[in-house]
Amino acid sequence: MSLLLRFSFYALAVSLYFLSTVNSMSTPISPAQRIEQLRKEITEHDERYYRNAAPVISDFEYDLLKSELKALESAHPEFSAENSPSQIVGDDRSRGFEKFPHRVPMQSLDNTYSEGEFLEFCARVGKDVPAGEMNFLVEPKIDGVSVSYTYENGKFVRALTRGNGVEGDDISRHVANIAGVPAALVPIPGKPFPKIVEIRGEIYMRNGEFLRINAQREAEGLEPFANPRNLTAGTIKSQNPEESARRRLDTFVYGLGACEPAGTFASLSELRATLHAWGFPVTEFCGNVLGGDAAAEKIRELGELRKSYPFPTDGAVVKLNSLALQRKLGEKSNAPRWAIAFKYAPEQAETTLRAITLQIGRTGKITPVAELDPVEVAGTTVSRATLHNEDEIARKDLRVGDRVIIEKAGEIIPQVVRFVPEKRRADSEVFSFENELKKLGIDAERPLRLVDPKRPEKGYERAVAWYVKEKDSPELRKRRLIYFAGKTCMDIPNLGEAVANQLVDLGFVKTPADLYTLSLEQVLKLEKFKEKSAQNLLAGIEASRSRELWRLINGLGIPNVGETTAKDLAKKFKTLSVLAAASAEDLATVAGIGEIVASSVAEFFLKPENQALCEAFIVAGLNTEIAGTPDDSSAVEQIFEGKIFVLTGTLPTLKRDDAKKMIEARGGKVAASVSKKTTCVLAGEEAGSKLEKARALGIEIVDEAEFLRRSGEVSVPAGRMASPEELLLDLN
Ligand code: IVH
Repeated sequence: MSLLLRFSFYALAVSLYFLSTVNSMSTPISPAQRIEQLRKEITEHDERYYRNAAPVISDFEYDLLKSELKALESAHPEFSAENSPSQIVGDDRSRGFEKFPHRVPMQSLDNTYSEGEFLEFCARVGKDVPAGEMNFLVEPKIDGVSVSYTYENGKFVRALTRGNGVEGDDISRHVANIAGVPAALVPIPGKPFPKIVEIRGEIYMRNGEFLRINAQREAEGLEPFANPRNLTAGTIKSQNPEESARRRLDTFVYGLGACEPAGTFASLSELRATLHAWGFPVTEFCGNVLGGDAAAEKIRELGELRKSYPFPTDGAVVKLNSLALQRKLGEKSNAPRWAIAFKYAPEQAETTLRAITLQIGRTGKITPVAELDPVEVAGTTVSRATLHNEDEIARKDLRVGDRVIIEKAGEIIPQVVRFVPEKRRADSEVFSFENELKKLGIDAERPLRLVDPKRPEKGYERAVAWYVKEKDSPELRKRRLIYFAGKTCMDIPNLGEAVANQLVDLGFVKTPADLYTLSLEQVLKLEKFKEKSAQNLLAGIEASRSRELWRLINGLGIPNVGETTAKDLAKKFKTLSVLAAASAEDLATVAGIGEIVASSVAEFFLKPENQALCEAFIVAGLNTEIAGTPDDSSAVEQIFEGKIFVLTGTLPTLKRDDAKKMIEARGGKVAASVSKKTTCVLAGEEAGSKLEKARALGIEIVDEAEFLRRSGEVSVPAGRMASPEELLLDLN
């Protein structure tokens, strides 16, 4: 699609958007009121995006709000304000992270979806830069999380998020999980390392990794992440080191913050070649062109190429190559004047919302799904899309029969963005989740949950999702059976939805354990089953008796437990009976298992029906154990054996409990007070008398970073030697 055409779509979208806003407003409001409204709305979206990594609108919708605000503010300068969200970069700082200032502030970028606006940017640059020197680099805009890596004399010092632009959160401990960040830069002959350099880039997740993690999450009955960017942000800000260690992150670098001595680099292309030679990953595509028209051509080229990239991109970044010219142009409050992001409008399509169906998961959670007239979006046919939950449907006011706009968020997962107001039928009815449940005869509730399980005083709130009340309904029995027989559980061939439905409807199977009492006669009663196929099904069931223990644990359908957790549990407890008897505290000692999962497992086994199920499996002769005695010491090297640690003060990222678990998993012990027997004190902020005593006794004191290094949490990636070709890399 040409840029011009894209722009007309963009203009259309803007006008439709305004139309829908105007439509929904009962009385017209003044520009001042609209500015206020937009600032409030954008600030809320910033909070969801930057701090919680859980946006509720697409980037495109967000950019529309922001450009409306900017347009209003420039038409009404009397209402401008320094703290308007149009003037500041979002703030990603979170609690529990140590903060460090950026030596040079980290800015954001102005963005546009239109070629016209892009050429206006070039014209502005042209006022200060002669045409013959207007060299632009055009690079993919990676859809991840901004990062700044500091190196001193070639050695990694720390990694910071953008934070509020002035100071960021220290996320150095994640660097071990980010492919490609060198612990030590590769030396370049004849070119000493800068004393200090801040290297700017993006941490991102590959599309394949994102899909892998989401598939696992869905199998565990958890809400999937909306896109790789949110998952990247969630992983970096996660307080659970084991969880984040299981997710692979990647990085690309492209920019410079502080650099001493100054003047080390004359241009971005020189910087890029050096970053690559130092061992950093740089993007494959980098157009180096003269003038705005040539840059627009590169943007178009990239628009096609990016579709086959294995990582998420949401635009092109165009920047002046010469650092001297960058300095000449300078910057505005939150963005440079020498660069712009051209964002590709997400591919959208219009179709009809035929129905909203309610899907019941194995835990009884009910998810609304949009059933759509099939439509092609970004290369695939979409006929269904999750609507997430009741509140999402209400927020978007989606109604059956509406014409709706489908968009692929990050070009991966289809979302219903909004309905088309002017095509709504006059007789359309507001969708009522409750009525729908009644129609289907499903007895369900939005259960009350503690706002914060650790602080019961904060009270209760309603869960976002509806859950069926009757935990033993035929529908749920079918779901559980299908899940139990699935590939990540007992892997029973030929036991899919159709067979499971009949087994339950005919009353042959109530729980998965009943599978093991099925007779040939019963199976022959199933539709389309003949002697041979019935024998095959029974043989498959028979073979599943000896599957590995983790498959059986996974098959139980414990809320919040999927394949990975099931494997961890099997490894630790070795038999189903030992696992079933474990307390929440025992469970929480397993590496990778947090409090929520621990209490979910303990609660599951406390229920009489689940105890009966486990007994039935044992009676049916299923394999319910693995060899060995119950402990997981074999899993982790016992590097702290015989060592006694004392913990004191608040650690920057680790919770005390996690530090304790890590020590114990590695064979060490944790004591409450410092004595001569203490091997090492792990000290955080505001450490008091224990620290003094340790000093007095001459006991070794380590901080969190050192502790993580010793426990093998932060492996130091070796620097890579640059080949001579790389050193001579010609990027033009
Ligand atoms: S250059 C002064 N190049 O996009 C900032 N940024 O929306 C200069 N981004 O904050 C940034 N890919 O985190 C640049 N190839 C690229 C980029 C890129 C992604 C991010 C960056 C920036 C944000 C602005």
